[in-house]
Amino acid sequence: MRKTGLMMVLAGVLAGILLAGLAGGARAEERQILRCRVLAHDFMAELTRTIQDAIHDGGPAGAVAVCRRAVPELEARYSLPPGIEVKLTALQCWDPHNLPDGWEKKGLENFLERRQQGAILAGLEYSEPVVLEGKRAFRYLRALPTGSLCLKCHGERLAPKVKKALRRYYFGSGGSGCRLAELRGGISITLYP
Ligand code: HEC
Repeated sequence: MRKTGLMMVLAGVLAGILLAGLAGGARAEERQILRCRVLAHDFMAELTRTIQDAIHDGGPAGAVAVCRRAVPELEARYSLPPGIEVKLTALQCWDPHNLPDGWEKKGLENFLERRQQGAILAGLEYSEPVVLEGKRAFRYLRALPTGSLCLKCHGERLAPKVKKALRRYYFGSGGSGCRLAELRGGISITLYP
């Protein structure tokens, strides 16, 4: 009798430790998601401001050259703190550097599936703890819907001047052909604890 009682107490303690561990893991993941949300928000706010200023100064065609510089510059700056990597990506890209890796492709396809099931893209997230080259990491992808500003360069019908400016740097139609409120791409963040 006493033995069974002791076993039950032990089992209870073990279950408690396990649950606390799981809850701790869930809390750590929530914190990582919150951190990624802030980074994604700041990055996109800064990129959008840069694009708006550039369009104000030189029209959408002039802003193409600004975006070409601003995207890699922002990626490099947001990836400066140790343990953080930030990147813009899409299933179709102008810049081949932005093409998705296997995990990002899965995430972008997941956004398309959820969109097909009626979800609104703004705010959709895909995240997962992973192991990268033997190191624990946390990966996060946030959907970037095509807004009216984005259409000027990523839309289906581009002004001839914008097309010409894009042709100066990129082959093919890559990042254009998107429709309003449909998926343009995603912002991808990797955190190394
Ligand atoms: C003035 C033109 C312009 C506008 C407006 C614009 N972009 Fe871009 N975007 C670019 C250029 C140019 C690149 C390629 C940058 C590079 O070479 O890395 C790019 C790249 C991207 C990429 C990476 C995939 C790729 O095609 O290389 C994403 C995602 C993206 N833009 C999203 C957006 C979103 C979302 C908006 C609206 C908020 C937007 N862009 C507005 C010009 C523009």
